[in-house]
Amino acid sequence: MTKPSPQDMVPHRAQWTTQWGFLLAAIGSAIGLGSIWRFAYVCYENGGGAYLIPYGVALVTAGVPLMILEYGIGHRMRGSAPMSFAKLNPHWEWLGWWMVIFVMFGIVLYYAVVIAWCVCYLGFSTTLAWGADPNHFFFQTFLGVTPGPHVVGDIRSPILLALVLVWVVNWLIVFFGVEHGIEKANKIFMPLLMLLILALVAWTATLPGAMEGMLRYWRPDFSKLANPKVWIDAYSQIFFTLSLGFGIMVAYASYLPRKADITSDAWMTCLVDTAVSLVAGLAVFGTLGYMAAKTGKPFEEVVQHGIGLAFVAYPQAISLLPSFQQLFGVLFFLMLTVAGIASSISILEAFSAAVIDKFHYPRRAVVTVLSIVGFLGGIIFATGGGLAWLDIVDHFLSHYGLFVACILQCLLVGWVYGARHLREHVNAVSRVQVGRLLDVAIRYLIPGVLAILFVSDFLTDIRQPYGGYPWLAQLLIGRDWLLVTLIVALFVAGRRWRRPLDRSPL
Ligand code: PHE
Repeated sequence: MTKPSPQDMVPHRAQWTTQWGFLLAAIGSAIGLGSIWRFAYVCYENGGGAYLIPYGVALVTAGVPLMILEYGIGHRMRGSAPMSFAKLNPHWEWLGWWMVIFVMFGIVLYYAVVIAWCVCYLGFSTTLAWGADPNHFFFQTFLGVTPGPHVVGDIRSPILLALVLVWVVNWLIVFFGVEHGIEKANKIFMPLLMLLILALVAWTATLPGAMEGMLRYWRPDFSKLANPKVWIDAYSQIFFTLSLGFGIMVAYASYLPRKADITSDAWMTCLVDTAVSLVAGLAVFGTLGYMAAKTGKPFEEVVQHGIGLAFVAYPQAISLLPSFQQLFGVLFFLMLTVAGIASSISILEAFSAAVIDKFHYPRRAVVTVLSIVGFLGGIIFATGGGLAWLDIVDHFLSHYGLFVACILQCLLVGWVYGARHLREHVNAVSRVQVGRLLDVAIRYLIPGVLAILFVSDFLTDIRQPYGGYPWLAQLLIGRDWLLVTLIVALFVAGRRWRRPLDRSPL
């Protein structure tokens, strides 16, 4: 018997079958609930069409460079975030773990619950179950909201059932791996999502008053640009909407073949996410315009965002439609569900990849255990107190957590590893070359901007507790969620690698 050569010992790494497969999956991760219901409102609030200036600046100075960084590092090191960071510098492995842990056991736990709400509302649409008072229906009948995060209340069974469904779908897709699960699913999800968005925009445009709403959404007000808040909003939206600092893009890029056009792919991901957010906003504001016209209320009064938009304002508008109300509702909530699932599978993959890289457990077992734990962990958000928990955890993780993770990632790559090395790798494989500005962005600009975002959030929160929740709840739920995930990350990073890290270049 011949002894296996060192080459045979290196486990086979999955690879996207096509460049498109990779791009669609990355875009699928980026376009999520955040892009659809948050972008439009923030854009309207911050000067409509004029908001495209700060947003564009944030995209070019922070979004694209960080996307190039994450793609470049994942591609060069051929590993999930913990593995890639460990290869950059063994002392930094914990950062990779922290990212994937607080996103998987934090952001995705409640994100899956919001997708579960969408699934429930998909069902409710068929009978217009929310009746005459969608506000009461959502908060009281459906969520059974308790007085605060300290009163957990009961588990809401429809949400729990839908949550099982969401995790089964996540599990099924990631179970079959990169090529046969994630790539295939996104090749169906992304065209379907575009189709749903376009259908909704076209349908909305035919409604009386819709045009007025759409114009209000894009009408530029340049005077707003003098307000720093507008710029802060633009930057803080960029990281979440592009799934940066989640460890996702690093893992996805690790499955690219050697020849990969990293810079073009980074630009493409950022631009498509922006374009889709902009267009989806037309459907949102068209519907609000229709509602204002139909009810005779001033436009400002009907405008809502986030949860209130999707689960109160939209159901209201659906009930007011002249015809095919059920179909409109089903299309809208299907759109949200598809966008959400394409994002949630990306973190399930990023976390699974991290565990497989380090401990070499079989993929199917890892994905199965993670999906079960993900479901169980999400139950707290499916209770009467769940909305408050969700709100607090979201605030701490998607602001403080992500900002700190992104700052450290920039410091690691920009200073410890050296931005120049990253740039050289990216330029060696890409068609479009990047200049020294990339180094400046990674070393100074992005960490600087993120530090400003952090301090500005902190000052706001000190002045007034976020969302009016008691201090104790914020510290115990929000801050400690971050601390506990950090401790777990440090612990996991301290464990031994099942096989020594291969540091040779591609
Ligand atoms: N980019 C996603 C969005 O806009 C954020 C996200 C990614 C959330 C992956 C969860 C998991 O909604």
